[in-house]
Amino acid sequence: MGRVFISRAIPGDAPGLLAAAGHSVEQWPKDLPAPRDALAAALARSDAAITRVVDQGDAGMLAAAPRLRIIANMAVGFDNVDPLMAADAGIWLTNTPGVLAETSADLAFGLMLALARQIVASAADTRAGGWKSWTPTAFLGTDVHGATLGVVGMGEIGEAMARRARGFGMDVLYASRTRKPAAEDRLACRWSTLDALLGQADFVSLHTPLNAETRHLLGPTQFRSMKPAAMLINTSRGAVVDQDALVAALRSGKLAGAALDVTDPEPLPLDHPLFALPNVIITPHIASASLATRSKMAAMAANNVIAVLEGREPYNPVNRPLHPRV
Ligand code: GLV
Repeated sequence: MGRVFISRAIPGDAPGLLAAAGHSVEQWPKDLPAPRDALAAALARSDAAITRVVDQGDAGMLAAAPRLRIIANMAVGFDNVDPLMAADAGIWLTNTPGVLAETSADLAFGLMLALARQIVASAADTRAGGWKSWTPTAFLGTDVHGATLGVVGMGEIGEAMARRARGFGMDVLYASRTRKPAAEDRLACRWSTLDALLGQADFVSLHTPLNAETRHLLGPTQFRSMKPAAMLINTSRGAVVDQDALVAALRSGKLAGAALDVTDPEPLPLDHPLFALPNVIITPHIASASLATRSKMAAMAANNVIAVLEGREPYNPVNRPLHPRV
């Protein structure tokens, strides 16, 4: 049967599922992602791979992996491997839609609350002994309820964010390539151009995939059109934001704060200027990180692998090889 490379320990029973289907599993044992050469060598001896968004696949790697039939990304995003390039090589690429939207929106909403109400800064100050008395002027934040949220990208995660916002009495605008009348009816949210959204929103939350159209979607011009009191939440991909422009906007007071679960690069070097800004929260790409959701994602990836290694089509393809490898 097949040999499956898993690029990092994953939760749940994905290795068990693969073993029960008769496949052998090789797992990258280290904390840090496999360097390119080690990843290429592992792919070269594998029939299938379960990868994370930090594992970058290139054409040379795929050409040097003649047995590889599927790359099952344990993520909904797949900007780490070009789907067409994989299809040309006869390799299926799959993702994990439908299971992580609510968990990811929980984190995005939590980051918005944490940023607006200085939860991280005040907790750190309290732990450091800063709580001397109830102080009427300490840690004065911004109200989330009643504010305007701009959702950029109205896919399943954007919708889940909008739903939470409605529960908090927020006014919700969204910008999206295609208008979503059903979501507008369900959530009483309004479609807007990106420019108009940026000019009106108190909080802007990014939920677009990363592709050629969305790379640096927010740059100097966009930050200039945002309200100076506005705050940015990014749980999509770091490169959707021009990070140098973000630092400049935060430093010059054109933007009040940012909460980033994704950065460019990842991990962000500790000497990066974003870490020196008090109005920034950075978390380590954990939007989908609940035990239940990550376990479902791992099982989906394993089931996609099992299907392809048994000669069937995968359940969650994001490409379609004309001549799948057999
Ligand atoms: C994680 O970033 C994902 O795309 O699921």
